[in-house]
Amino acid sequence: MKIGIAGTGRMGAAIAQRLLSLRHEVAVWNRTEEKTRPLAAAGAKVAGRPAELAAASETVITILTDAAAIDAAYHGRDGLLSGNVSGKVFIEMSTVRPETERALAGKIRSKGGAMIECPVGGTIGPAKDGKLFGFVGGEAQDVARARPLLEQMCRRIEHVGPVGAGASMKLAINLPLLVFWQAFGEALALVKPLGLDAARLVDIFGDTSGATTALKNRAATLASALQGVEVSPITVDIDAMRKDLRTMVEEAKSLGTELPVTASALQCYEEAAKAGIGMNDITGIPVRWMKR
Ligand SMILES: NC(=O)c1ccc[n+]([C@@H]2O[C@H](COP(=O)([O-])OP(=O)(O)OC[C@H]3O[C@@H](n4cnc5c(N)ncnc54)[C@H](OP(=O)(O)O)[C@@H]3O)[C@@H](O)[C@H]2O)c1
Repeated sequence: MKIGIAGTGRMGAAIAQRLLSLRHEVAVWNRTEEKTRPLAAAGAKVAGRPAELAAASETVITILTDAAAIDAAYHGRDGLLSGNVSGKVFIEMSTVRPETERALAGKIRSKGGAMIECPVGGTIGPAKDGKLFGFVGGEAQDVARARPLLEQMCRRIEHVGPVGAGASMKLAINLPLLVFWQAFGEALALVKPLGLDAARLVDIFGDTSGATTALKNRAATLASALQGVEVSPITVDIDAMRKDLRTMVEEAKSLGTELPVTASALQCYEEAAKAGIGMNDITGIPVRWMKR
């Protein structure tokens, strides 16, 4: 299948690698072209403009930072929707508000294309291995068209409703996780006076109900980070998660409800960004709090 991927950041590049390994014909476009080079070396075609990517693809996947990035990639002068997209399927995988996905789906539909959303759980490793968790929103017939490809990217697919539902589910899934990283830093502040070794502390937490799966999966990285070792490569940075927390708070407001704990966590992430560590790995959140 001819697949186009717009946005070869951390996740887009990992997904492209996965699809190349399955011998799909993959074309990529990225705002910063340099990031497409390793994929070109692995056999991907590189499109100079989003419109070129869409023209060369039967299915287009986008996984971009936020609503502004979606706007730029789809609706710019040479955007994905600037040419004829009739009959094409778009799979939008960014973590954004439901209304962003709904508005995009409407525009794609008006041009004769189909769109489903599939924001994902899981990070670079699962993306490379086709082991993401896809939170799918879309019309049944469109989801059916996309499903064979989704199954090659995801270990589990949950079709939770029309376009917008997947975005809601993804924001909800990330909420306790992002609050957790700050809460874990606060927990560490309580036991700091004990002077225990970082690896031992992470190991103790990991064997209790005080840990998330993310802590267990990233135990070694977290222990090194607590010992002052710089995390590399970064799987997800603080700024991206700050964007997610902000999106959750905005979404709740539009629903007429409040998220007091989330809003408080957002404030802590904002302070981390102000302290200059926004581009650091997410483990920087608990590390910062413990070290205060
Ligand atoms: N990393 C994870 O573990 C993870 C897991 C699940 C979901 N997600 C979600 O997946 C999405 C991508 O995450 P990521 O980690 O791959 O982020 P990333 O590495 O920062 O990549 C972001 C991508 O968006 C592009 N972009 C940003 N602003 C743009 C603009 N104005 N116009 C065109 N392109 C623009 C970037 O292009 P440039 O290279 O030119 O900057 C890059 O391709 C986000 O919504 C994130 O929340 C991430």
